[in-house]
Amino acid sequence: MKIENLLDKMWKDYIVLNKSAQKIVDLFEQKGNEVVNDHIALRTFNHPKLSVDVIAKPFLEAGYFENGTYDFEEKKLKAKHYEHKDANLPKIFISELMLEEFSDELNELVNSLIEQVDEKKISEFDFCSSGRPWNLSSETYHRLAKESEYAAWVSAIGFKPNHFTVYINKLQSFTEVSDLNTFLKEHGFMLNSSGGEVKGSPQVFLEQSSTLADKIEVDFDDKSEVIPSCYFEFAKRYELPNGQMYQGFVAKSADKIFESTTLK
Ligand code: NI
Repeated sequence: MKIENLLDKMWKDYIVLNKSAQKIVDLFEQKGNEVVNDHIALRTFNHPKLSVDVIAKPFLEAGYFENGTYDFEEKKLKAKHYEHKDANLPKIFISELMLEEFSDELNELVNSLIEQVDEKKISEFDFCSSGRPWNLSSETYHRLAKESEYAAWVSAIGFKPNHFTVYINKLQSFTEVSDLNTFLKEHGFMLNSSGGEVKGSPQVFLEQSSTLADKIEVDFDDKSEVIPSCYFEFAKRYELPNGQMYQGFVAKSADKIFESTTLK
């Protein structure tokens, strides 16, 4: 499988979990915009078997390189972002939950999931978009959610893109994040307002907003339940003093955006 095919598969998998994303792309295109993806975000645990470095492998093999590391102390997450020398390919942002910062109970639950995963499956090129590789009861999902919404999300959805991101700079009919937000709200989409609808500022060279995650029905071992799945993100980048476009991420903004998948 080529990287282009993997990225294509990731989008197709993603819009099954987040139908709003395709609807928003269609609305933008109807207004004459070309929609370019800034980055794809993936989530995992910092367990050696499934850490960021493991999930990043196919991207590194395909010519991506690591170009930023991030700490989210409050959320107990770390992340790295990867870029490709072909700037037409989206950046890849992978975060991992720092398991040692959580209770023995959460660690036992997460380990019992990870133990079920075959190493061979993890080494497959498209593992990052292969879904949930373990059995999971609704009870375990809710026990995880009590301590970490992020852990619960990964347990239920597994390995699928958490979000794609519209690169606002490339849109023809929007330049301001606030105008884009207004347009989305007028069309009935719910935005993440934690910390304000627009996260970041020109001073940190990045402004972002996001929808709230769509809800999907997930089959647990014992029953089905409707839970938050994936959201759509929007990013406007600014030039650095050296004239180059800022390609990194802002931890303070992403910290709030992580909340787009909360259960409430
Ligand atoms: Ni993002």
